[in-house]
Amino acid sequence: MKPVRILFVCLGNICRSPLAEGILQRQAVEAGLEITVDSAGTGGWHIGDAPDRRSIAVAARHGIDIGRQRCRRVTLEDLDSFDLVFGMDRRNVENLRALAPKTAQAKIHLFLDYALGTAVDVPDPYYEGEDGFETVYSMLSDGCSSLIGRLEERFS
Ligand code: 4NP
Repeated sequence: MKPVRILFVCLGNICRSPLAEGILQRQAVEAGLEITVDSAGTGGWHIGDAPDRRSIAVAARHGIDIGRQRCRRVTLEDLDSFDLVFGMDRRNVENLRALAPKTAQAKIHLFLDYALGTAVDVPDPYYEGEDGFETVYSMLSDGCSSLIGRLEERFS
């Protein structure tokens, strides 16, 4: 079976979605689950940049290297080629839904709603301190563990 293709989307693609990509990538390897993971932003301010240093730091504290990721903007082609597209917050989901053709609407979800069944936003930590990044890490890590369980059920 083809590996499931998962795209995480936030606003800037430098704080939340790169972390989500790194966490899910690592958890999938640990679970022996073959998936493809990527991330992108709805905004274009940081295209080509590495993730925010605070996201790189919190990932590193948990043994994950996200420093080689580079920011990119979500494309229409992404909405065709990925199987699941996860917005980090409701605004991301709204922006994705506005961009997506009818055929792609069903694959767009609020991440923690799909993963945990709780329709909660992963908050934007860009204007927060280091604590905000730890909170985001913890929310993403819980969500990714639960998502792995769901993927194992749905796609095995
Ligand atoms: P992210 O956070 O959406 O989690 O990557 C942000 C990063 C940058 C900006 C906003 C949010 N910005 O306005 O540049």
